[in-house]
Amino acid sequence: MTETRIPLAGVIGTPISHSKSPQIHMHWLKTHGIKGYYIPMEVGADDLETVIRSLPKAGFVGVNITVPHKEKILEIADLVTDRATLIGAANTLIFRKDGKIHADNTDGVGFVRNLRQNAPGWNPLAGPAALLGAGGAARAVISALLETGVPEIMISNRTRVRAEALKTEFGKRLVVVEWVQAGNMMEEAAMVVNTTSLGMIGKPPLRVPLDGLRKGTLVTDLVYAPLKTKLLAEAEDMGCVTVDGLGMLLHQAVPAFERWFGVRPDVDSATRAAALR
Ligand code: ATR
Repeated sequence: MTETRIPLAGVIGTPISHSKSPQIHMHWLKTHGIKGYYIPMEVGADDLETVIRSLPKAGFVGVNITVPHKEKILEIADLVTDRATLIGAANTLIFRKDGKIHADNTDGVGFVRNLRQNAPGWNPLAGPAALLGAGGAARAVISALLETGVPEIMISNRTRVRAEALKTEFGKRLVVVEWVQAGNMMEEAAMVVNTTSLGMIGKPPLRVPLDGLRKGTLVTDLVYAPLKTKLLAEAEDMGCVTVDGLGMLLHQAVPAFERWFGVRPDVDSATRAAALR
């Protein structure tokens, strides 16, 4: 009689000890009574391909990929989804039974599903979005927002050329705004998204003036440590609808867990609590 193998998954990056993904996936494995493990793995760029190619034989059904390997992994994967190609990065690998390594990016859907769950009245067609930042996270947010039909994305970044490059790539619905004038976007914006690392524990605060913000505007921060950033606290005081970044992290994990373990997990208060443990 052949024994069923215990399915393994994990997350690969460096540094990796801060990752919340192990708590999230282990919580879902337990909730669904699945005998499996989710393991954080510290792997540098030189060993990335060798490690990844060895994992399927060791019983891994897939892994998440995080900083700094999210772009590089596209060269290693055998198949890349359209959305990962568009974003230019992958966060999820699926090790297929035929031996092929399939790369996907679930950050964009995670972003949108977090807003749908936590700001149920959100209508992306209501007006322009104001986006702060033009890094990897911004790419995932832009591709997801364009798909929702948002009429315009105003984008402001300290390094203007990075915002210009995104406009060239993603097209006419993007409008570049000078970083020193980022505050001017607030009045027109139906939603505001911080994709920079500003406001994160250990980073400088986000200093963009918010006084133009209108009541009811949706303000969301991708930063989740702290959960309530200065941006969210100020926006809340101004009567805005605020959504923190932890939900995006939880929602981006859902499609991966479903593909690896065959069950679609819920994102509920117990999942949030597990991630914060
Ligand atoms: P990620 O993949 O998380 O988006 P990234 O590609 O390094 O990471 O992008 C980080 C974002 O935060 C960028 O928009 C960056 O602005 P620059 O393109 O000018 O570097 C922004 N950022 C980081 N530190 C910043 C700071 N001190 N002031 C303004 N913007 C900052």
